[in-house]
Amino acid sequence: MRLDKYLSDHTDLTRSLASKSIRQGRVSVNRIKAKSGAQKIHPLSDHIQLNGEAIAAQLANRYFMMNKPQGLVCANSDGDHPLVFDVMHAEHNLQKLHTVGRLDKDTTGLLLITDDGHWSHCITSPKHHQAKTYRARLAEPLIAEAEQLFSQGVTLKDDVKPTLPAQLERISEQEVLLTIHEGRYHQVKRMFAALGNRVETLHRHSIGSITLDSDLLPGHYRALSEQEVQALQVK
Ligand code: URA
Repeated sequence: MRLDKYLSDHTDLTRSLASKSIRQGRVSVNRIKAKSGAQKIHPLSDHIQLNGEAIAAQLANRYFMMNKPQGLVCANSDGDHPLVFDVMHAEHNLQKLHTVGRLDKDTTGLLLITDDGHWSHCITSPKHHQAKTYRARLAEPLIAEAEQLFSQGVTLKDDVKPTLPAQLERISEQEVLLTIHEGRYHQVKRMFAALGNRVETLHRHSIGSITLDSDLLPGHYRALSEQEVQALQVK
């Protein structure tokens, strides 16, 4: 969206007064002075200020995907370990953001981050059964019955209810893609432990119809498009 249109939609400035404010250097986008009303902005994630004051901080929710690297924890504070938010220096009000569910410290791949609690509930609530696909490298060759056992549901150590049916695809003897529809604590690692195996590396590839952007290097993130946000919203 054009910056001048955004300003006229969200303030009492007309489009021409918005352009004038920009030319006068009174508007910034992500703390950089804007030069032209034609500048394209992303209303969901860019931080727009007029005369030093945020315009839509309260109006627009923010939505990101990150390629989580190993070693960062999915929490808003942790005395011992670096946080996923530590790589998001360019964002304002980091304390308002939360991760949509969690990945373990050693798990890599697709992590969604937002300040929209309703949206994250749509994704994490067990009621909605959003599919999550992981690529796992295993310590031992996979047993022959694994597909069948996972499709029936397995009982995890310390749990009473078996897991929901999950889909397993073999890439090689010790590499698989696993799609699950719930988000229990350490679920993937515990599912393979239930087969007497061990996960050596784990990488999340997709959530629902959102796939990790292959252009994102580990530790990098980008704003989601409006279509991506909509795609995970439960109708
Ligand atoms: N399952 C796990 O065991 N770990 C994760 O990080 C995600 C799913």
